[in-house]
Formats: sequence, C-alpha cells, structure tokens
Amino acid sequence: MSNSEKPQVVWHDHAVDRSSREQLNGHRGCVIWFTGLSGSGKSTVANQVDLLLHQKQIHTYLLDGDNVRHGLCASPQLLAERGYSQEFSQRFGLGFGDADREENIRRIGAVTQLCVAAGLITLTAFVSPYRRDRQRVRDWVEQHGAVGDFIEVFVDAPLELCEARDPKGLYRLARAGKISNFTGISDPYEAPTNPDIHLQVADRKPEELAQTVVDYLKDQGIV
Ligand code: ADX
Repeated sequence: MSNSEKPQVVWHDHAVDRSSREQLNGHRGCVIWFTGLSGSGKSTVANQVDLLLHQKQIHTYLLDGDNVRHGLCASPQLLAERGYSQEFSQRFGLGFGDADREENIRRIGAVTQLCVAAGLITLTAFVSPYRRDRQRVRDWVEQHGAVGDFIEVFVDAPLELCEARDPKGLYRLARAGKISNFTGISDPYEAPTNPDIHLQVADRKPEELAQTVVDYLKDQGIV
C-alpha cells in the first residue's frame, strides 16, 4: 500500500481534557472490569457497585453483556430484523464464536476508554472468557490513560454453582446441546491469573462483594 492509499486518521486532542472533567466530577475515572462465568453474579454485583457509587454522587456508567448485545454488539439476527441487509448483518453482527467474542470485547474496550476519557467510573459485566482479549482492553485503556485505570475483578463462582442457579435456563439448553459454544460447558473460560480484585462468591451476598469493590476504590484514592 503506498502512502497516498493509507487511510489518514489523525488523533485530535480535545479542548476539555480528562483531568478537567475529573476535576469537575470530583473523582477519577477508571474501568472496573468484571469477568466470570454466566450466572456468576457479575451483573448483580456490578449493579450494586454502580448504585452505591451513584448514591455517593459519583459519575458512573454500567455496560452490561446482555444489554450491549442488543445494540453495539447485536447479533446478525437482530440486525436483519432491524432492516440491515443479510450481508451487512452477517459481517457486523456478533455471536459467541472466538472471533465474535474477541470483537465484542474489542468494541466494548474502545467504548470504556471513551467513558474513562469522559471522567466516568465505568463498570462492565461481560463473560470476557479470554485472557488475551482482557489484556488488550487493559493495554488500550492504560495507553490512553494511566496504569491503574483498568481494574480487573474476577467474579469467581464454581461452575456447579452457576449451573445450579441457571438464572436464564441457558446451562440446561447448553447441556442439552441446544446452544453451542457455551462458556464452561462447550467453550473455555480462562480465569484471570492476577486479578486486581478476586471475589470468591461461594456463599457471600452481592452487597458484601460490592462493598469489597468500593473499599478497593477508596484504598486506591479513586473515590
Ligand atoms: S462474551 O463472552 O462475549 O464476553 P457476553 O458477556 O457479551 O459474552 O454475553 C454473555 C451472555 O450472553 C451470557 O450471560 C448469557 O446470558 C448469554 N449467552 C448466550 N449464548 C452464550 C454462549 N454461547 N456463551 C456464553 N454466554 C452466552
């Protein structure tokens, strides 16, 4: 590719930068990245942390797996239902194969970086089963900000517990072979080796787990 054919995309610095926004907010921005099996309680704990912070007048935003897969990362089927062509829907819609999960996490990672630049405490709740994909988000967020901006939270619930809970009935369908590539059953989950916060779910209540995360933010001087 010659120079004249290279896409010319140039990064622009904004007049209002992250630190001005953080000053206005009265706290730092960061990403709190919850990862764990489906049914481990990621969304519940992330929601509870979001609520606790919001009640303290802290500016937050929560990106949640199932919700994001309705819009930013919609499936080919959802896109086709919304009137996009078959070709477009197949190309940009996402499912649960390796490459689709990789693109799911890449898109979300890019959005979280923008949210941090907006000075928000950004919470995410995605299975995000691959270490490499989570590391890439950490790298992207920290390259555009600072080390410590990406906080990985491992919501560590044994598969047996998630399967017994089965809040959406998906484990049952996966065991029956009606859903393929299901994390923990027919697809891998790569647990974090060195998470910033390790929540051992077992018999602990979501409120207790959420408080652990808020205490970490206080210890780090984020809130
Ligand atoms: S991720 O692997 O790409 O990070 P994400 O968090 O967006 O997954 O979506 C996971 C949610 O989609 C689960 O909570 C579950 O409700 C649903 N789901 C549907 N099919 C699958 C599957 N094959 N594997 C995991 N989750 C699935």
